[in-house]
Amino acid sequence: MLVGERHYRTIWYDEDDKMVKIIDQRLLPFEFKIESIATMEEMYVAIKEMHLRGAGLIGAAAAWGLYLSVRQLPQWNKITSSAAYLASSRPTAINLQAALDLMSKGLKNVGSESRAEEAKYIAQQISDQDANACRQIGENGFPLIEAISKKKNGDTVNILTHCNAGWLAFVDYGSALSPIYEAFNRGLKVHVYVDETRPRNQGARLTAWELGQQGIPHTLIVDNAGGHLMQHQKVDMVIVGADRVSKNGDVANKIGTYLKALAANDNEVPFYVAFPSTTYDSSIENSLLEIPIEKRNADEVLFMQGWHQGKEVNFRIAPENTKALNYGFDITPARLVSAYITEKGVSDKPGAII
Ligand code: MRU
Repeated sequence: MLVGERHYRTIWYDEDDKMVKIIDQRLLPFEFKIESIATMEEMYVAIKEMHLRGAGLIGAAAAWGLYLSVRQLPQWNKITSSAAYLASSRPTAINLQAALDLMSKGLKNVGSESRAEEAKYIAQQISDQDANACRQIGENGFPLIEAISKKKNGDTVNILTHCNAGWLAFVDYGSALSPIYEAFNRGLKVHVYVDETRPRNQGARLTAWELGQQGIPHTLIVDNAGGHLMQHQKVDMVIVGADRVSKNGDVANKIGTYLKALAANDNEVPFYVAFPSTTYDSSIENSLLEIPIEKRNADEVLFMQGWHQGKEVNFRIAPENTKALNYGFDITPARLVSAYITEKGVSDKPGAII
């Protein structure tokens, strides 16, 4: 997608200096900086400390991380230990494990002299497939926005989204934002309500920045405002992303998604979940028991991070002795989802479009 006039992906391999490049998302929207990653260990830190984040992107990053390990040591036992190490970086989004499984499967029967080349090839394929799937999600989701636009006689379609499921969360295009980009590019009037998404503020920092770069009208709201806006008919539809979708269609997504789905259901606002099929986990029968929910550092809740006079600042927002709890994700039950949008189509049964 565009940053200024230039097209970027969120991750790529640079043949000149033989390093993987990423956009350091910790600095956005205040600074646009490319980080070079040379080793598997550096990639592990980049995923865990969220230099990059988002379900599709951490999948591609894990694949490139494994490549970096293979080019150093191509032995099979090193591949399995590096894959396990990378998989332990973040637990909720299944894309990460799925990408590592694909890499391991593709490398198993390849001689160690060819493994590095093959690993690079598969990592590039995983990246390209993620970008292509997201582009297709845009095309498949577009008619849902178009239908509301027609119903409103071409008036602005107001869409609420949570967290960042845009191109920054994938290799390109995004999931939840991809149909919005498609609608905007095809001339429909759209406006996005962006949940700030505490504690890391991916909405305020990343989604608002992304939409701004593409010229899409948007308004930032606090996380608890969505219900109020829906009660006053200010939201025509909700589109969110997903970190893991279970067999029956329950959705693990950024903490707070469940409350948006409840409010949407209560106000008869359609609630859509967009994801590439790599996010579907057919092994999950009981989402609440089986999907691991990441618990992150309490400091993310106790402190706010921002920018002041060109410098990053961190400041405490709670009393010194207050404890905090920081779950990164929650589960939205399938009964609250109007339909799922994947690269294969739109359906109220996710299994039908995987
Ligand atoms: O913790 P993050 O920023 O990696 O969270 C993942 C997400 O970006 C969201 O949950 C998103 O809605 C789904 S990932 C496309």
